[in-house]
Amino acid sequence: MTATNDQFDHYQVFDQEQGPLIENLAEIRSSCPVQHSDAHGGFWAIFGYENVGQIARDPSAFSSMGGATIPSHGFPMPLPPIESDPPRHKMYRGPMLPIFSPPAVEKLTDSMREMVTRLIDGFCTRGEADLAGELTIPFPGMTIGLIMGVPNDEIEQLKGWTRELMLDISNAPAIGEALAFFTDLYERRKAEPKDDFPSLVIGLEIDGEPISPEECLAVYAMVTFAGLETTANSSSHIFDLLSQRTDLRDELVADPTKIPTALEELLRYTSPLPASARTVSEDIDFMGEPLQAGDRVLLNWISANHDPAEFESPSEIKLDRFPNRHYVFGVGSHRCLGVHLARAQLRILVEEVLRRIPDYEVQSNEVERYIGVTRGIGRLPIKFTPTAASA
Ligand code: HEM
Repeated sequence: MTATNDQFDHYQVFDQEQGPLIENLAEIRSSCPVQHSDAHGGFWAIFGYENVGQIARDPSAFSSMGGATIPSHGFPMPLPPIESDPPRHKMYRGPMLPIFSPPAVEKLTDSMREMVTRLIDGFCTRGEADLAGELTIPFPGMTIGLIMGVPNDEIEQLKGWTRELMLDISNAPAIGEALAFFTDLYERRKAEPKDDFPSLVIGLEIDGEPISPEECLAVYAMVTFAGLETTANSSSHIFDLLSQRTDLRDELVADPTKIPTALEELLRYTSPLPASARTVSEDIDFMGEPLQAGDRVLLNWISANHDPAEFESPSEIKLDRFPNRHYVFGVGSHRCLGVHLARAQLRILVEEVLRRIPDYEVQSNEVERYIGVTRGIGRLPIKFTPTAASA
Protein backbone atom coordinates (compact mmCIF):
# COMPACT_ATOMS: atom_id res chain seq x y z
CA MET A 1 0.00 0.00 0.00
CA THR A 2 1.30 3.44 -0.85
CA ALA A 3 2.27 5.43 2.18
CA THR A 4 0.64 8.83 1.79
CA ASN A 5 1.09 11.91 3.86
CA ASP A 6 -0.75 14.83 2.29
CA GLN A 7 0.63 17.00 5.04
CA PHE A 8 4.37 16.69 4.43
CA ASP A 9 5.54 19.99 3.02
CA HIS A 10 9.22 20.74 3.54
CA TYR A 11 8.58 24.49 3.42
CA GLN A 12 6.44 24.11 6.52
CA VAL A 13 8.30 21.31 8.28
CA PHE A 14 11.76 22.91 7.98
CA ASP A 15 10.39 26.20 9.29
CA GLN A 16 10.70 25.09 12.93
CA GLU A 17 13.22 25.63 15.66
CA GLN A 18 16.03 23.06 15.57
CA GLY A 19 14.85 20.95 18.54
CA PRO A 20 11.21 20.38 17.45
CA LEU A 21 12.35 19.94 13.82
CA ILE A 22 14.76 17.14 14.73
CA GLU A 23 12.12 15.40 16.85
CA ASN A 24 9.55 15.72 14.09
CA LEU A 25 11.95 14.30 11.48
CA ALA A 26 12.92 11.42 13.78
CA GLU A 27 9.27 10.45 14.08
CA ILE A 28 8.69 10.60 10.31
CA ARG A 29 11.90 8.64 9.60
CA SER A 30 10.97 5.79 11.88
CA SER A 31 7.27 5.64 10.95
CA CYS A 32 7.32 6.27 7.20
CA PRO A 33 10.74 6.79 5.57
CA VAL A 34 9.39 6.81 1.99
CA GLN A 35 6.13 8.66 1.67
CA HIS A 36 4.09 10.42 -0.95
CA SER A 37 3.02 14.00 -0.48
CA ASP A 38 0.51 15.90 -2.60
CA ALA A 39 2.18 19.24 -1.89
CA HIS A 40 3.84 21.19 -4.74
CA GLY A 41 2.34 19.03 -7.48
CA GLY A 42 3.17 15.77 -5.70
CA PHE A 43 6.49 14.16 -4.75
CA TRP A 44 8.04 11.33 -2.80
CA ALA A 45 9.73 12.43 0.41
CA ILE A 46 12.71 10.22 1.33
CA PHE A 47 14.08 10.03 4.87
CA GLY A 48 17.00 8.23 6.52
CA TYR A 49 20.72 7.91 5.82
CA GLU A 50 20.66 4.75 3.75
CA ASN A 51 17.67 5.65 1.57
CA VAL A 52 18.88 9.17 0.82
CA GLY A 53 22.44 7.96 0.08
CA GLN A 54 21.21 5.15 -2.18
CA ILE A 55 19.21 7.54 -4.39
CA ALA A 56 21.89 10.24 -4.50
CA ARG A 57 24.43 7.63 -5.67
CA ASP A 58 22.22 6.37 -8.49
CA PRO A 59 21.98 9.08 -11.18
CA SER A 60 20.75 6.66 -13.84
CA ALA A 61 17.59 5.74 -11.90
CA PHE A 62 17.24 9.19 -10.27
CA SER A 63 17.99 12.01 -12.67
CA SER A 64 18.98 15.56 -11.78
CA MET A 65 17.74 16.97 -15.10
CA GLY A 66 14.21 17.52 -13.80
CA GLY A 67 15.39 20.13 -11.30
CA ALA A 68 17.32 20.24 -8.03
CA THR A 69 14.43 21.78 -6.09
CA ILE A 70 10.76 21.06 -5.39
CA PRO A 71 8.93 22.98 -6.71
CA SER A 72 11.15 23.43 -9.78
CA HIS A 73 12.69 26.84 -10.42
CA GLY A 74 11.42 29.17 -13.13
CA PHE A 75 14.61 29.46 -15.22
CA PRO A 76 13.96 28.70 -18.89
CA MET A 77 16.76 26.09 -18.93
CA PRO A 78 18.31 23.48 -16.61
CA LEU A 79 21.15 24.78 -14.44
CA PRO A 80 24.28 22.60 -14.81
CA PRO A 81 26.28 21.11 -13.26
CA ILE A 82 23.63 20.38 -10.62
CA GLU A 83 20.89 19.85 -13.20
CA SER A 84 22.74 17.51 -15.53
CA ASP A 85 23.32 13.75 -15.68
CA PRO A 86 26.23 11.56 -16.75
CA PRO A 87 28.01 11.66 -19.11
CA ARG A 88 27.42 15.41 -19.68
CA HIS A 89 27.66 16.17 -15.95
CA LYS A 90 31.37 15.33 -15.93
CA MET A 91 31.99 17.58 -18.95
CA TYR A 92 30.73 20.60 -16.99
CA ARG A 93 32.12 19.65 -13.61
CA GLY A 94 35.57 18.24 -14.53
CA PRO A 95 37.09 21.45 -15.92
CA MET A 96 35.72 23.47 -12.97
CA LEU A 97 37.36 21.27 -10.32
CA PRO A 98 40.73 23.08 -10.34
CA ILE A 99 39.06 26.43 -9.53
CA PHE A 100 37.49 24.93 -6.40
CA SER A 101 40.37 22.58 -5.46
CA PRO A 102 42.14 22.76 -2.07
CA PRO A 103 45.25 24.49 -3.55
CA ALA A 104 43.07 27.08 -5.34
CA VAL A 105 41.11 27.74 -2.14
CA GLU A 106 44.38 28.00 -0.20
CA LYS A 107 45.41 30.83 -2.54
CA LEU A 108 42.23 32.74 -1.63
CA THR A 109 42.70 32.29 2.12
CA ASP A 110 44.63 35.50 2.84
CA SER A 111 42.18 37.63 0.85
CA MET A 112 39.24 35.97 2.59
CA ARG A 113 40.73 36.57 6.05
CA GLU A 114 41.35 40.18 5.10
CA MET A 115 37.67 40.55 4.04
CA VAL A 116 36.44 39.11 7.33
CA THR A 117 38.85 41.32 9.30
CA ARG A 118 37.56 44.44 7.54
CA LEU A 119 33.93 43.46 8.04
CA ILE A 120 34.44 42.83 11.78
CA ASP A 121 36.34 46.15 12.02
CA GLY A 122 33.14 47.79 10.77
CA PHE A 123 31.22 46.92 13.94
CA CYS A 124 33.56 45.65 16.68
CA THR A 125 33.86 49.01 18.48
CA ARG A 126 30.06 49.39 18.72
CA GLY A 127 29.30 46.50 21.09
CA GLU A 128 26.32 45.49 18.97
CA ALA A 129 25.75 44.44 15.37
CA ASP A 130 23.60 42.49 12.99
CA LEU A 131 26.01 39.59 12.49
CA ALA A 132 24.11 38.39 9.41
CA GLY A 133 23.74 41.76 7.65
CA GLU A 134 27.25 42.93 8.54
CA LEU A 135 29.27 39.74 8.25
CA THR A 136 27.83 36.39 7.26
CA ILE A 137 25.83 37.71 4.27
CA PRO A 138 28.37 40.18 2.79
CA PHE A 139 31.38 37.86 3.13
CA PRO A 140 30.26 35.06 0.75
CA GLY A 141 29.21 37.81 -1.68
CA MET A 142 32.71 39.26 -1.63
CA THR A 143 34.21 35.80 -2.15
CA ILE A 144 31.93 35.01 -5.09
CA GLY A 145 32.83 38.44 -6.49
CA LEU A 146 36.50 37.43 -6.39
CA ILE A 147 35.82 34.14 -8.20
CA MET A 148 33.43 35.62 -10.77
CA GLY A 149 35.55 38.73 -11.29
CA VAL A 150 32.55 40.92 -10.40
CA PRO A 151 32.91 44.10 -8.26
CA ASN A 152 31.14 44.42 -4.90
CA ASP A 153 28.39 46.85 -5.98
CA GLU A 154 27.31 44.42 -8.71
CA ILE A 155 27.36 41.52 -6.25
CA GLU A 156 24.85 43.47 -4.14
CA GLN A 157 22.32 43.11 -6.96
CA LEU A 158 23.06 39.39 -7.28
CA LYS A 159 22.55 38.91 -3.55
CA GLY A 160 19.15 40.60 -3.81
CA TRP A 161 17.99 38.36 -6.65
CA THR A 162 19.38 35.28 -4.92
CA ARG A 163 17.42 36.03 -1.75
CA GLU A 164 14.23 36.57 -3.76
CA LEU A 165 14.79 33.24 -5.51
CA MET A 166 15.52 31.41 -2.27
CA LEU A 167 12.10 32.51 -1.04
CA ASP A 168 10.28 31.97 -4.33
CA ILE A 169 12.23 29.82 -6.74
CA SER A 170 10.10 30.86 -9.71
CA ASN A 171 10.25 34.64 -9.10
CA ALA A 172 10.13 35.81 -12.74
CA PRO A 173 11.46 39.39 -12.28
CA ALA A 174 14.47 38.13 -10.25
CA ILE A 175 15.19 35.44 -12.89
CA GLY A 176 14.90 37.97 -15.74
CA GLU A 177 17.20 40.48 -14.08
CA ALA A 178 19.76 37.85 -13.06
CA LEU A 179 19.86 36.44 -16.61
CA ALA A 180 20.29 39.96 -18.05
CA PHE A 181 23.19 40.49 -15.63
CA PHE A 182 24.84 37.20 -16.62
CA THR A 183 24.29 37.91 -20.32
CA ASP A 184 26.20 41.14 -19.91
CA LEU A 185 28.97 39.34 -18.00
CA TYR A 186 29.14 36.68 -20.72
CA GLU A 187 29.43 39.28 -23.49
CA ARG A 188 32.15 41.20 -21.64
CA ARG A 189 34.23 38.03 -21.11
CA LYS A 190 33.62 36.81 -24.65
CA ALA A 191 34.98 40.12 -25.97
CA GLU A 192 37.83 40.27 -23.48
CA PRO A 193 38.68 36.98 -21.69
CA LYS A 194 40.16 37.14 -18.20
CA ASP A 195 41.76 34.63 -15.87
CA ASP A 196 38.49 33.97 -14.01
CA PHE A 197 35.59 31.56 -13.70
CA PRO A 198 33.29 33.14 -16.35
CA SER A 199 36.05 32.96 -18.99
CA LEU A 200 36.85 29.34 -18.06
CA VAL A 201 33.21 28.38 -18.60
CA ILE A 202 33.10 30.05 -22.03
CA GLY A 203 36.00 27.78 -23.06
CA LEU A 204 34.24 24.50 -22.10
CA GLU A 205 33.51 21.83 -24.69
CA ILE A 206 30.39 19.75 -24.08
CA ASP A 207 29.98 16.60 -26.20
CA GLY A 208 32.66 17.84 -28.60
CA GLU A 209 30.83 21.15 -29.19
CA PRO A 210 31.64 24.56 -27.69
CA ILE A 211 29.33 25.30 -24.76
CA SER A 212 26.34 27.41 -25.86
CA PRO A 213 25.87 30.99 -24.57
CA GLU A 214 22.66 29.88 -22.83
CA GLU A 215 24.49 27.09 -20.99
CA CYS A 216 27.15 29.58 -19.88
CA LEU A 217 24.50 31.79 -18.28
CA ALA A 218 22.98 28.74 -16.60
CA VAL A 219 26.34 27.70 -15.11
CA TYR A 220 27.06 31.27 -13.91
CA ALA A 221 23.66 31.41 -12.24
CA MET A 222 23.95 27.99 -10.62
CA VAL A 223 27.41 28.53 -9.14
CA THR A 224 26.64 32.07 -7.97
CA PHE A 225 23.40 31.09 -6.25
CA ALA A 226 25.01 27.97 -4.75
CA GLY A 227 27.79 30.02 -3.19
CA LEU A 228 25.83 32.92 -1.69
CA GLU A 229 23.06 31.83 0.65
CA THR A 230 24.56 28.49 1.65
CA THR A 231 27.68 29.81 3.39
CA ALA A 232 25.81 32.81 4.78
CA ASN A 233 23.08 30.73 6.37
CA SER A 234 25.39 27.94 7.57
CA SER A 235 27.58 30.38 9.45
CA SER A 236 24.59 32.29 10.87
CA HIS A 237 23.12 29.05 12.22
CA ILE A 238 26.46 28.09 13.73
CA PHE A 239 26.90 31.49 15.43
CA ASP A 240 23.34 31.31 16.73
CA LEU A 241 23.93 27.83 18.14
CA LEU A 242 27.25 28.75 19.76
CA SER A 243 25.57 31.65 21.51
CA GLN A 244 23.02 29.23 23.01
CA ARG A 245 25.66 26.61 23.84
CA THR A 246 28.35 28.71 25.48
CA ASP A 247 29.96 25.52 26.84
CA LEU A 248 30.81 24.52 23.25
CA ARG A 249 31.87 28.02 22.36
CA ASP A 250 34.19 28.25 25.38
CA GLU A 251 35.83 25.00 24.29
CA LEU A 252 36.56 26.43 20.83
CA VAL A 253 37.73 29.79 22.19
CA ALA A 254 40.14 27.95 24.52
CA ASP A 255 41.49 25.77 21.70
CA PRO A 256 40.83 27.10 18.16
CA THR A 257 42.62 24.09 16.63
CA LYS A 258 39.39 22.19 17.38
CA ILE A 259 37.40 24.42 15.01
CA PRO A 260 37.77 22.46 11.72
CA THR A 261 36.53 19.16 13.24
CA ALA A 262 33.88 20.96 15.29
CA LEU A 263 32.54 22.68 12.17
CA GLU A 264 31.66 19.32 10.60
CA GLU A 265 29.54 18.49 13.63
CA LEU A 266 27.92 21.93 13.80
CA LEU A 267 27.10 21.64 10.09
CA ARG A 268 25.68 18.12 10.56
CA TYR A 269 23.53 19.28 13.44
CA THR A 270 22.15 22.40 11.75
CA SER A 271 22.03 21.02 8.14
CA PRO A 272 21.44 24.44 6.53
CA LEU A 273 20.55 23.05 3.08
CA PRO A 274 17.97 20.53 4.23
CA ALA A 275 16.91 18.82 0.99
CA SER A 276 17.53 18.43 -2.77
CA ALA A 277 15.44 16.89 -5.53
CA ARG A 278 15.70 14.20 -8.20
CA THR A 279 13.32 12.82 -10.85
CA VAL A 280 12.61 9.11 -11.32
CA SER A 281 13.95 7.95 -14.74
CA GLU A 282 11.96 4.73 -15.07
CA ASP A 283 9.35 2.87 -13.00
CA ILE A 284 11.08 1.38 -9.98
CA ASP A 285 10.16 -0.26 -6.71
CA PHE A 286 11.84 1.60 -3.85
CA MET A 287 11.39 0.29 -0.30
CA GLY A 288 8.14 -1.33 -1.44
CA GLU A 289 6.76 1.86 -2.97
CA PRO A 290 5.92 2.03 -6.70
CA LEU A 291 7.85 5.05 -7.95
CA GLN A 292 6.98 5.91 -11.55
CA ALA A 293 9.02 7.55 -14.31
CA GLY A 294 8.67 11.32 -13.98
CA ASP A 295 7.85 11.23 -10.24
CA ARG A 296 9.69 13.84 -8.23
CA VAL A 297 11.74 12.77 -5.21
CA LEU A 298 12.92 14.90 -2.28
CA LEU A 299 16.12 13.76 -0.54
CA ASN A 300 15.99 14.98 3.04
CA TRP A 301 19.68 15.50 3.84
CA ILE A 302 18.78 16.81 7.29
CA SER A 303 16.94 13.60 8.13
CA ALA A 304 19.93 11.53 6.97
CA ASN A 305 22.23 13.69 9.10
CA HIS A 306 20.20 12.87 12.21
CA ASP A 307 19.72 9.16 11.58
CA PRO A 308 20.75 7.08 14.63
CA ALA A 309 21.60 4.20 12.27
CA GLU A 310 24.65 6.23 11.18
CA PHE A 311 25.20 8.75 14.00
CA GLU A 312 25.29 7.66 17.62
CA SER A 313 23.06 9.97 19.73
CA PRO A 314 22.40 12.24 16.75
CA SER A 315 20.75 15.02 18.75
CA GLU A 316 23.87 15.44 20.85
CA ILE A 317 26.51 17.82 19.57
CA LYS A 318 29.89 16.10 19.93
CA LEU A 319 32.52 18.51 18.68
CA ASP A 320 35.02 15.71 18.11
CA ARG A 321 32.55 13.26 16.52
CA PHE A 322 34.40 10.66 14.46
CA PRO A 323 33.59 9.34 11.97
CA ASN A 324 31.22 12.07 10.82
CA ARG A 325 30.08 11.04 7.33
CA HIS A 326 27.30 13.60 7.08
CA TYR A 327 25.50 14.59 3.88
CA VAL A 328 25.57 18.35 4.47
CA PHE A 329 27.39 18.73 1.15
CA GLY A 330 25.43 15.92 -0.51
CA VAL A 331 26.89 12.59 -1.65
CA GLY A 332 27.57 10.93 -5.00
CA SER A 333 28.56 12.62 -8.23
CA HIS A 334 26.81 15.93 -7.43
CA ARG A 335 28.57 16.32 -4.07
CA CYS A 336 29.14 20.03 -3.49
CA LEU A 337 31.72 21.49 -5.86
CA GLY A 338 32.33 24.35 -3.40
CA VAL A 339 32.98 22.12 -0.37
CA HIS A 340 36.61 23.17 0.16
CA LEU A 341 35.74 26.83 -0.33
CA ALA A 342 32.78 26.61 2.05
CA ARG A 343 34.87 24.89 4.73
CA ALA A 344 37.62 27.52 4.44
CA GLN A 345 35.07 30.36 4.62
CA LEU A 346 33.38 28.89 7.69
CA ARG A 347 36.69 28.24 9.42
CA ILE A 348 37.87 31.81 8.88
CA LEU A 349 34.53 33.26 10.00
CA VAL A 350 34.38 31.19 13.20
CA GLU A 351 38.07 31.69 14.04
CA GLU A 352 37.87 35.46 13.65
CA VAL A 353 34.56 35.97 15.47
CA LEU A 354 35.60 33.79 18.41
CA ARG A 355 38.99 35.52 18.58
CA ARG A 356 37.68 39.07 18.43
CA ILE A 357 34.22 39.06 20.05
CA PRO A 358 34.19 35.78 22.02
CA ASP A 359 31.42 36.87 24.40
CA TYR A 360 28.82 37.82 21.77
CA GLU A 361 25.21 37.10 22.68
CA VAL A 362 22.52 36.64 20.06
CA GLN A 363 19.38 38.68 20.86
CA SER A 364 17.18 35.69 20.18
CA ASN A 365 13.80 37.46 20.13
CA GLU A 366 15.06 39.77 17.34
CA VAL A 367 16.43 37.07 15.02
CA GLU A 368 14.72 37.00 11.62
CA ARG A 369 14.40 33.54 10.09
CA TYR A 370 13.01 32.47 6.75
CA ILE A 371 12.62 29.20 4.94
CA GLY A 372 13.41 28.71 1.28
CA VAL A 373 15.85 26.41 -0.49
CA THR A 374 18.04 26.96 2.57
CA ARG A 375 17.06 27.48 6.17
CA GLY A 376 17.75 31.19 6.30
CA ILE A 377 18.64 33.81 8.87
CA GLY A 378 18.11 37.35 7.55
CA ARG A 379 19.02 39.24 10.74
CA LEU A 380 21.15 38.04 13.63
CA PRO A 381 21.39 40.86 16.20
CA ILE A 382 24.21 40.44 18.75
CA LYS A 383 25.66 42.31 21.73
CA PHE A 384 29.25 41.93 22.94
CA THR A 385 32.06 43.70 24.78
CA PRO A 386 33.37 46.34 22.33
CA THR A 387 36.91 45.81 21.04
CA ALA A 388 39.36 47.90 19.04
CA ALA A 389 39.42 47.68 15.27
CA SER A 390 42.49 45.91 13.89
CA ALA A 391 45.51 48.03 12.95
C1 HEM B 1 28.08 25.49 3.70
C2 HEM B 1 27.86 25.83 2.44
C3 HEM B 1 27.33 24.88 1.40
C4 HEM B 1 26.47 23.84 1.53
C5 HEM B 1 25.77 23.35 2.81
C6 HEM B 1 26.30 23.24 0.22
C7 HEM B 1 25.52 22.12 -0.05
C8 HEM B 1 25.45 21.49 -1.27
C9 HEM B 1 24.74 20.26 -1.54
C10 HEM B 1 23.93 19.47 -0.52
C11 HEM B 1 24.93 19.93 -2.86
C12 HEM B 1 24.41 18.68 -3.57
C13 HEM B 1 23.06 18.91 -4.16
C14 HEM B 1 22.51 17.70 -4.89
O1 HEM B 1 23.05 16.59 -4.80
O2 HEM B 1 21.48 17.87 -5.56
C15 HEM B 1 25.75 20.97 -3.43
C16 HEM B 1 26.13 21.02 -4.75
C17 HEM B 1 26.83 22.08 -5.29
N1 HEM B 1 27.38 23.15 -4.63
FE1 HEM B 1 27.32 23.50 -2.64
N2 HEM B 1 27.06 23.95 -0.67
C18 HEM B 1 27.72 24.95 0.00
C19 HEM B 1 28.58 25.89 -0.52
C20 HEM B 1 28.89 26.01 -1.86
C21 HEM B 1 29.76 27.01 -2.43
C22 HEM B 1 30.52 28.07 -1.61
C23 HEM B 1 29.78 26.80 -3.78
C24 HEM B 1 30.53 27.53 -4.86
C25 HEM B 1 30.82 28.77 -4.90
C26 HEM B 1 28.93 25.66 -4.05
C27 HEM B 1 28.69 25.13 -5.31
C28 HEM B 1 28.00 23.96 -5.55
C29 HEM B 1 27.83 23.41 -6.88
C30 HEM B 1 28.35 23.99 -8.20
C31 HEM B 1 27.10 22.22 -6.73
C32 HEM B 1 26.67 21.25 -7.83
C33 HEM B 1 27.73 20.20 -8.02
C34 HEM B 1 27.39 19.20 -9.10
O3 HEM B 1 26.23 19.07 -9.47
O4 HEM B 1 28.32 18.53 -9.57
N3 HEM B 1 28.41 25.21 -2.87
N4 HEM B 1 26.06 21.89 -2.45
